[in-house]
Amino acid sequence: MLVVRMLRPIVGGMVRTLACRSCTAILPPVLPVRVLSSSPVQTPTDAHFHSASSSETGPPRVLITGGLGQLGMGLANLLRNRFGKDNVILSDIKKPPSHVFCSGPFVYADVLDRQNLREIVVNNRVTWLLHYSALLSAAGEANVSLARAVNITGLHNVLDIAAEHNLRLFVPSTIGAFGPTSPRNRTPDLSVQRPRTIYGVSKVHAELMGEIFHDAVKRGKFECNLRPSTRLPMMYVDDCLRATLEVMEAPAESFSMRTYNVTAMSFTPDELAQEIAKHVPEFRITYCVDPVRQAIADSWPVSLDDSMARKDWGWKHDFDLPELVTTMLSLHGCDTRIAQAN
Ligand SMILES: NC(=O)c1ccc[n+]([C@@H]2O[C@H](COP(=O)([O-])OP(=O)(O)OC[C@H]3O[C@@H](n4cnc5c(N)ncnc54)[C@H](O)[C@@H]3O)[C@@H](O)[C@H]2O)c1
Repeated sequence: MLVVRMLRPIVGGMVRTLACRSCTAILPPVLPVRVLSSSPVQTPTDAHFHSASSSETGPPRVLITGGLGQLGMGLANLLRNRFGKDNVILSDIKKPPSHVFCSGPFVYADVLDRQNLREIVVNNRVTWLLHYSALLSAAGEANVSLARAVNITGLHNVLDIAAEHNLRLFVPSTIGAFGPTSPRNRTPDLSVQRPRTIYGVSKVHAELMGEIFHDAVKRGKFECNLRPSTRLPMMYVDDCLRATLEVMEAPAESFSMRTYNVTAMSFTPDELAQEIAKHVPEFRITYCVDPVRQAIADSWPVSLDDSMARKDWGWKHDFDLPELVTTMLSLHGCDTRIAQAN
């Protein structure tokens, strides 16, 4: 008899975080194991779509934390068969057995060491993070403070790095996230969850953090620290870089002065939010004005006159607000929605 714990994603569509709850099934080995049918993780096409940047092609670059545990190595084999051996990095704080070490990339990664985790993500161009490090039930009860650190602080480190580097993140949950007051038969997705172990409590925490993270990054909520009417001059980074190159290449005799204003557009947070909402109708912005930042913004010009740069060395911007929003949303994986909106 084979004991299989199947991981069933509870969120689909364009998501960066999948919080999933595992279901325990006791199956004879011949039965087909239920697949991740609703998960967008399945197809190579989706893999491309969900990679960190839309400019990247090819398979995802995967990091598995806590990969030397019961589930991680099997997961690595599965993903390596699909995406190639070198695209799946196993990590743990334990020393790998030699057959694991020789089977593909392995690195030391302590999820409590955020700096080290960030370095691994950056140096290896990681786009998917499967976060398997945890102290499970018995080990957690035996060392509650370590379980709290690994399962909660470790998760926060992973969430922060995933947000910083636009990673697709998967965090498995467990039936231990239910407790004695949860319905025991046909337990629904949403029900009372009052577990009595630190493992269960930390997994409820992970489930809720997954929802908050998902809401924040994909359903489009943004808290702005400036007043909605704060107008500032802006340029898209590509215009800014091109201006640098063009001024360096311009003939010296074209300059009538030594310091030039260079700008593209000028907009307020409210105008930006309205432009984003054209593509992401559910986008919501809230305002929580930070007096320090507001004072700095209020001391800056609301628009720049760059007519001298345009006249002397032919400066011309490419990106106005609509092009800026379209480009930035597509870089963040919202291209499908933009296509629909257009
Ligand atoms: N195995 C199951 O039956 C089951 C069921 C449901 C959910 N899950 C979840 O799946 C994930 C993996 O489970 P597993 O059974 O492989 O667990 P496991 O206990 O076998 O492995 C966990 C791994 O995490 C590593 N780890 C501990 N502290 C770490 C740290 N500070 N930094 C990095 N790694 C650290 C350990 O060295 C270990 O290899 C866990 O999140 C668990 O909650 C497992």
